[in-house]
Amino acid sequence: MATEKELIEKAVAMLDLSYCPYSKFPVGAALECEDGAVFTGCNVENASYGLSNCAERTAAFKAVSEGHRKFKRIVIAGRCEDFCWPCGACRQVLNEFGPGMEVICLNAKGEAAHMTLPELIPHAVDSIWLGN
Ligand code: THU
Repeated sequence: MATEKELIEKAVAMLDLSYCPYSKFPVGAALECEDGAVFTGCNVENASYGLSNCAERTAAFKAVSEGHRKFKRIVIAGRCEDFCWPCGACRQVLNEFGPGMEVICLNAKGEAAHMTLPELIPHAVDSIWLGN
């Protein structure tokens, strides 16, 4: 199992791999799964802006596509003054695989805000809601 400090270091390191020539807003993420596997991600933008992908979803899709479907916690790093909160779309995607997961958001100073996903997205759409 990774320590929180290790996850933070991985998320911060991903800031340098971010491809964000349009927004110039780098985001890095480190996602830990219940089995201990860790997947990193960064935002990847596109000249067709709407095709851009957030750091959290990059990490989530890497994990699921490698067979890891139970998420435990995620660290999200940014270089902004405020904590780097996940966008609404990423909250919903994380909820699919980690409805009770921990979300740790960093600001430029490296300070951390600890939240749970249910705090960030109450009443998320899930399979029960769909009747599946
Ligand atoms: N971004 C993320 O990667 N994660 C978030 O939760 C917020 C937004 C990215 C998307 C875009 O590349 C840039 O930050 C500005 O919105």
